[in-house]
Amino acid sequence: MNYKKNILITGGAGFIGSHVVRLFVNNYPEYRIINLDKLTYAGNLNNLRDVENQPNYTFVKEDICNLERMVELFDEYNVDGVIHLAAESHVDRSITDPFTFAQTNVMGTLSLLQAAKEKWAGNFEGKLFYHVSTDEVYGALGFDETLFTEETRYDPHSPYSASKAASDHFVRSYHDTYGLPIVISNCSNNYGPFQFPEKLIPLFIHNIRNNKPLPVYGKGENVRDWLYVEDHARAIDLIFHQGKLGDTYNIGGFNEWKNIDLIKVIIKTVDKQLGNPEGTSDHLITYVTDRAGHDLRYAIDATKIKNELGWEPSLQFEEGIEKTVKWYLDNEDWLNSVTSGDYQRYYKIIYGSN
Ligand code: NAD
Ligand code: TYD
Repeated sequence: MNYKKNILITGGAGFIGSHVVRLFVNNYPEYRIINLDKLTYAGNLNNLRDVENQPNYTFVKEDICNLERMVELFDEYNVDGVIHLAAESHVDRSITDPFTFAQTNVMGTLSLLQAAKEKWAGNFEGKLFYHVSTDEVYGALGFDETLFTEETRYDPHSPYSASKAASDHFVRSYHDTYGLPIVISNCSNNYGPFQFPEKLIPLFIHNIRNNKPLPVYGKGENVRDWLYVEDHARAIDLIFHQGKLGDTYNIGGFNEWKNIDLIKVIIKTVDKQLGNPEGTSDHLITYVTDRAGHDLRYAIDATKIKNELGWEPSLQFEEGIEKTVKWYLDNEDWLNSVTSGDYQRYYKIIYGSN
């Protein structure tokens, strides 16, 4: 079949990537979607069972750092669009293993950029390199400070955010130096189905169900701006098709929560769905040593994407969290399958137990 576009989505077996792949495979049968993923501990093909047999979907197991293979793949699949999500994404891991973050997030992004530059050279018409990034590159806000805009100065603090900031800079440099058609988006914290259970929301749902402690870092006062993952995927779709070349778009939920308040909502929702009386799991809250360099507050001003592309979050947080808790409680098999193997080994090294 002659596809209208051949889109390489990297990191498509991860949390956000799997939602983006699903959206593109289902909504654009005229596009061929090539999901390229190394399948690290965070990548799981079980996230994509519902689309894996679609004719316009292909999976390639590969490391984005392998420049030679990236160049070959551009040729093999006649790639004319890239949506780049592959990354190491967990701040706590970046603190214990910064080199892997520099390798994948910086060198991996660079090798994709280089492949795109080489293969698209001389004909950038109809091509796009879309880099998916995070609000964490902007650093931390005080409680009274105004939201992150697209003009906010980069000020990353963790090895994770430093590696994402560096990758954003490389993407812009390929635009400014070689004219590569790029677009970047910086999104706030996502939640929803298929998120690896080392991140706050799925970890806490899992622990409440199993009557395990809920490790709250510091005093639980840090603030995050939460967005339902399908709303992020919808924003990516819009930016891919209508975003202005060379531009940056902030994406966020206008939905700030202090960690401890969010945790109380999670506990209440899980207890309710498990049929437990309210308050049953409150005792699981356990204050632990704070994360090193823990950013106080992230909050996105998503006015630009609203004004220019008409995007807004569609799901109210209360509905989103109900859906999310239900999904994790209904999908214990998925949770058990992703927390075996590499993850178990890592968890034992870092935390001493499972
Ligand atoms: P994730 O950790 O769930 O998934 C990352 C995916 O990348 C996995 O499937 C993994 O196997 C793959 N991968 C890792 N290293 C690779 C390599 N060297 N080569 C090929 N594939 C590799 O991450 P996520 O939460 O879905 O985040 C996806 C992207 O969105 C990341 O770039 C992240 O920085 C960004 N982001 C995430 C959030 C969030 O809240 N999770 C918010 C804003 C932006
Ligand atoms: P996380 O899901 O790791 O996302 P990020 O660090 O990228 O924002 O963490 C969300 C918030 O929850 C962050 O402020 C750290 C905090 N947190 C805990 O208090 N306990 C935990 O066990 C985890 C994983 C996170």
